[in-house]
Order: sequence, then structure tokens, then C-alpha cells
Amino acid sequence: MKKTRLDLMPVLFPTPVVLVTCKDPSSQPNIITIAWTGVVNSKPPMIGISIQPIRYSHKLIRASGEFGVNIPTREMLRVTDYCGSISGRRVNKFETTGLTAFQGEKIAAPLIEECPVNLECKVRHFLTLGMHDLFIGEILAVHADKDIVDDTGHIVPEKMDPVAFFSRPLEYWSLREKIGTYGFTQGKL
Ligand SMILES: Cc1cc2nc3c(=O)[nH]c(=O)nc-3n(C[C@H](O)[C@H](O)[C@H](O)COP(=O)(O)O)c2cc1C
Repeated sequence: MKKTRLDLMPVLFPTPVVLVTCKDPSSQPNIITIAWTGVVNSKPPMIGISIQPIRYSHKLIRASGEFGVNIPTREMLRVTDYCGSISGRRVNKFETTGLTAFQGEKIAAPLIEECPVNLECKVRHFLTLGMHDLFIGEILAVHADKDIVDDTGHIVPEKMDPVAFFSRPLEYWSLREKIGTYGFTQGKL
């Protein structure tokens, strides 16, 4: 196959899209849409979110040292895009979207009821990278809608219906189908 050189950019597609909730002691709760996110450690469970310093949410998470990660469904695409196109400095996004806030157990920022999975995170590391700053949060509590969890306590992917993001050409995609199970080759091709 003939290859072509592309401009330098973080071409690691797709990434998840999440709604990060945050608040500091003097603020209303806020929601920011984040695509620069991923798992960075298993034990203790940790995820990273990268946020530009100009974002209102950056200030809130810096001040509070905590954030919620809420995984939206395809049905929530409009509110997901909206929370990534307007600042909490101007509007209360819980009010304008009508999303329902619920209180977790470990952090002061509320979580989003309509999202089937919600993680409560405390910031353990902070790294300045350039255009974005990386917050690495330890997951202290995981909540999931009962109807997407099987008898063994695991999330059933097809019941979750998450959104994937391609940062070029800036598109949202849904996941299609299961194509394998981890380790199914058992080391044999
Ligand atoms: C799909 C999508 C993904 C985004 N991902 C990020 C991200 O990873 N980091 C970031 O700083 N901004 C990201 N943004 C932009 C912020 O969500 C947007 O600027 C938001 O309005 C900031 O809200 P705030 O000022 O209330 O914090 C994304 C926007 C969209 C629509």
C-alpha cells in the first residue's frame, strides 16, 4: 500500500466523548464536553482529561481538585455537542439543557442522571502540555444504570450506546457491532 505523509496532529481515532462535570465551592455546577480523554492506569483506576487553560471548567477543576466523568449516549448527541460549544461563564448548562444533576458520594460536583455511566474522580496529577493541560484523576466511585449491567456486574456494551469522536474531520460516530473477544486468538493466528 502506498503511504502519504499528513500534517502533524494527534491522529489517534476514535476517542470517546464524555461530559465532564465540575464545580468549585463558589460556583454553579458546570458541564464541559471532552474528547481528549482516556484510561491511563488500571490499579488504582485512573483516567486523563486534557483541557485548555482558557476553559471555565479548567478553573473549576484546578480549584476543586475533582471532576465527574459522564458517558453520554447517541440519544444525547445534541446536548453533548451543545455543552462543547458554549461556556459555563455565560450560562448554567444544567438549566439550559434540562439535564438532571445527581449527587455522587465522593465529590462535590454533581453527576448527570441521563448518562448511563458516571465516574467520580479526584485529581492526582496535573501536567502542562502546551495548548492543553492534563488532569489525571483517580476514579473513586463508578455508577451505572441498572439496566445496562449484567448479572456479573459488568456493563453490556450494546446497551450503553456511547459516542465516538473523530477529531479530523470533526465527526461523531456510533459503534457498530462486536467483532471479537479479548484474547480469542490464544496466541495462535
Ligand atoms: C466533541 C467536542 C470535544 C471537545 N473536547 C475538548 C477537549 O478535549 N478539551 C478541551 O479543552 N475542550 C474541548 N472541547 C471544547 C469545550 O467543550 C468547549 O470550549 C466548552 O464550551 C468549554 O466549556 P466551559 O467554558 O464551560 O468550560 C470539545 C468540544 C466538543 C464539541
